[in-house]
Amino acid sequence: MPEIDTEGERYQADKPQARPGFYLKGCHQLDWGMKNRLARTFSPATGRTVMLAIDHGYFQGPTTGLERVDLSIVPLLPYCDALFCTRGILRSVIPAESTKPMVLRASGGPSILKELSDEQIAMDMEDAVRLNAAGVGIQVFIGGEFETRSIHNMTKLVDAGLRYGMPVMGVTAVGKDMVRNAQYFRLACRMIAELGAQYVKTYFVEDGFETVTASCPVPIVMAGGKKLPELDALTMAYNAVQQGAAGVDMGRNIFQADAPKAMIAAVSAVVHQDLKPAEALDMYNSLKSQG
Ligand code: 5RP
Repeated sequence: MPEIDTEGERYQADKPQARPGFYLKGCHQLDWGMKNRLARTFSPATGRTVMLAIDHGYFQGPTTGLERVDLSIVPLLPYCDALFCTRGILRSVIPAESTKPMVLRASGGPSILKELSDEQIAMDMEDAVRLNAAGVGIQVFIGGEFETRSIHNMTKLVDAGLRYGMPVMGVTAVGKDMVRNAQYFRLACRMIAELGAQYVKTYFVEDGFETVTASCPVPIVMAGGKKLPELDALTMAYNAVQQGAAGVDMGRNIFQADAPKAMIAAVSAVVHQDLKPAEALDMYNSLKSQG
């Protein structure tokens, strides 16, 4: 680990970073095309997003809930702010009539059978532009076996993104044996932002998440992770946005819920309307009972 940082008032998590002229943290000096793509992804009304993550197949194959994206995910499109998917699913399944912003998975290589950090850039930026993407996403394995390569993948993607006005979402990818705490995520998120990503996807931690968002100079979206009971997932999303996240990029906790449409509506109310978790659960149950 690097020099150990310490908890304390230096983070000043209660004081939002100034963002003159544009509503997203750390994005006010970006070019018009980049800002426009960010404004398609993050609601200008709330500064937040509910991104639906369905990119799992790029290393896991047909994950539970994603066996038939045409049947399980396409009906959810009206309820998300953006979709995080692969270009393969985009071209083969997502209707081109959809006006939803698409954030495309741009890294890949190893399957779940191999060392996951051994990724490379898996998409040309020109193709992202051709597909009218609103952004691209890439894993960064801080502390992982191929840490340096994954960072270089991201910086190359950021350079290409800057040429075309395409925002890059850096994803903090956590190996099985790594400690998931605020200190680790502060390190990972800050490195990703310092090395040029326009926003960061990371996991929620119970203790000190506000220091992760405070010390990251660009927006953070909360990653969902494995399926939790609905109330726990809604509480996690609520706590993340209350502690500075600019929304969520959730997959399994939405599409593996008993009622995915009700769940994404409840998550959206938590993210955009600050609905409390218990009320959001009531909303979920009521929408679920209405079928
Ligand atoms: C992991 C990823 C995944 O591919 C996916 O987006 C995860 O979604 P969830 O954990 O919410 O099911 O980016 O870092």
